[in-house]
Amino acid sequence: MSAKKKATPSAPAAGRPRRPAATGMKTKRASGKAAHPHASLLDELVQQAKAVRENAYAPYSRYPVGAAIATKSGRIFVGCNVENASLGGTICAERGAIMQMIAAGEKDPIACAVVTGDEEGASPCGICRQVLVEFTRDMPVVLVGLGSRDGETGRVVQLADLLPLAFDSSKLPR
Ligand code: THU
Repeated sequence: MSAKKKATPSAPAAGRPRRPAATGMKTKRASGKAAHPHASLLDELVQQAKAVRENAYAPYSRYPVGAAIATKSGRIFVGCNVENASLGGTICAERGAIMQMIAAGEKDPIACAVVTGDEEGASPCGICRQVLVEFTRDMPVVLVGLGSRDGETGRVVQLADLLPLAFDSSKLPR
């Protein structure tokens, strides 16, 4: 699934209603830290990840996850976890979004959001980190948890920090 929304990290169009800063970046600004340079893009990704999380199929874990990935061309691809009675058949939200991206003929992700229902947000599992790194060494990944009593909490991490010393194709025979 993809949205028509442009992913260019520019200022919001005039008249577009401002959404709450789900990334928590407003809070950080208030405490003197600079906003992330791609704040408006990351907020858009969080909104889309939150929306697709509603479609997650997670009857076994009861832990729905939504993910959204923006690409260099300005498109956004989303995914949610899809579980299976044979538990190993489960696909994570992040990999779902990557599958959509590849199926659409794109391969240059520039930013990612993952939304979960716990308090702090959760970082991608090891398999998803490896699958993300196949397409970019580094990009901001915003992790949002919806379950805090104080509302949403979010933080931005870098993919390269999530998977140092990643295995890549340079090791394979040509
Ligand atoms: N899950 C994801 O969708 N992404 C992750 O990175 C971690 C785990 C899903 C898989 C499973 O459906 C549920 O969360 C509990 O593990």
